Amino acid sequence: MVPEGFQQSVLETKPLNGRNDELTLRVVVFANVTTDPSTFSYALGNTDAEHERLIRQAARFAPLTERLFRDAGVGPGQRVLDLGSGMGDVAMLVAQIVGPSGEVVGVERDPSSIERAQIRVMEAGLHNVSFVRCDASELPGERPFDAAVGRLILQFLPDPVAVLRSVSQLVRPGGAIAFQEPSWKPYLALCSQMPLWSACGSLAVHAFEGAGANAEMGPELPRLFEMAGLPSPVMRMEMLLGHDLESTRWTSDLLGSLKPQIERLRLSVEKVGDFETLAERLRLEAIASGTTGPCVALLGAWCVKPAA
Ligand SMILES: C[S@@+](CC[C@H](N)C(=O)[O-])C[C@H]1O[C@@H](n2cnc3c(N)ncnc32)[C@H](O)[C@@H]1O
Repeated sequence: MVPEGFQQSVLETKPLNGRNDELTLRVVVFANVTTDPSTFSYALGNTDAEHERLIRQAARFAPLTERLFRDAGVGPGQRVLDLGSGMGDVAMLVAQIVGPSGEVVGVERDPSSIERAQIRVMEAGLHNVSFVRCDASELPGERPFDAAVGRLILQFLPDPVAVLRSVSQLVRPGGAIAFQEPSWKPYLALCSQMPLWSACGSLAVHAFEGAGANAEMGPELPRLFEMAGLPSPVMRMEMLLGHDLESTRWTSDLLGSLKPQIERLRLSVEKVGDFETLAERLRLEAIASGTTGPCVALLGAWCVKPAA
């Protein structure tokens, strides 16, 4: 019997007596799929489809992210660190803000993402963006940055406080630290009268959490900043709404990237149905209920690093 919350893997089945019919040894491993970090893989994966999804998502989130960074004090001529760069969209957005006299260094652990991000930076004609391949927990110390930023990255880190502490050590006193992280609670609250939307939101949250990510990292940012020795941050929340196909596709796209986790965790997709037709069914449900559809809420937090 498999204990609740555990996943069974058979590593080896071999006959003890040299024959296949008797005394068989089965080496069975029970991994706790809900709490054991050693079994977690990155929730969204690094497939080509996920890369394309990140690019589409970045185009939608760009105005929200740009507002946050500008308000946080990111400006012309600055040298900025971008944590968890993905396809490089945040790094390129920051490059526009800092201008040609500034510089952006992106940190990303996945080599295929870096490769794609580098090509996109080149195609955009930007000469002041570079990427370092490393885990966020092993940031290379070099000359100080004027600011450090990140979008949708702290939620995936096993020890976000430790990472925020090392990020802050790389920023000069007086420099800005700004992060944008998710909250799914507003999504779920807004669609509580729409069963399909609700099922999608719940499925996404369970998949993220089952893969070890924190779906409610946004509201935890003040606690994180303070535990990392930073001042209490200024906070804001922004959320895109819409039920045109481009908007509803955000939810179906995301579930598509989470599919391997959904299958690994054996989460039921019964209430969600066929992913291929999901965007259209979400659109129709919003129209029928006389309302619109949510997107994940983005919570922004920023502070200025105090003088030592
Ligand atoms: C959801 S994507 C966000 C990408 C980008 N910040 C954006 O908003 O478009 C998160 C990215 O963080 C990267 N990542 C996840 N865990 C990481 C870690 N421990 N260190 C460095 N990068 C990591 C993933 O490979 C992925 O590219």
